[in-house]
Amino acid sequence: MLRLLAVIVACTLGLVACAGSPELPPNADEQLIEGSEIFRARCASCHGPTGTGGIGRPLTDIEDRLTDAEQRAVVVTGRGTMPRFEGVLTDDEIDAVVRFTREIL
Ligand code: HEC
Repeated sequence: MLRLLAVIVACTLGLVACAGSPELPPNADEQLIEGSEIFRARCASCHGPTGTGGIGRPLTDIEDRLTDAEQRAVVVTGRGTMPRFEGVLTDDEIDAVVRFTREIL
């Protein structure tokens, strides 16, 4: 129990790279950081914390399969059980999370 607490505290403080949070490069700009936060909050539950898939498909090599515009369209309008994020996330937030999944996952 104490051990778990220590891990949680260390993760929160960013002292250790916790499994499940893909690492951002040290020079990550604000948009990438925002994208990573949105991914964790809105997408990771279905696509997995590192984008390797789950209920949703893996997004790890998404940039090889979809163009930026195609990928954005899936996020905006949804597809099948993938929810639509139009009106849920702003355009800027969608840009940020799409960029994060293409560049980091
Ligand atoms: C409720 C679960 C769920 C959530 C939350 C979710 N997705 Fe999905 N996503 C899916 C499913 C399921 C699919 C496959 C859709 C299909 O049937 O074609 C999918 C597909 C996708 C695809 C297309 C993948 C491909 O290979 O064509 C992208 C891109 C995507 N999701 C991005 C996101 C992003 C970005 C978020 C967060 C803003 C997100 N998803 C949140 C379930 C989810």
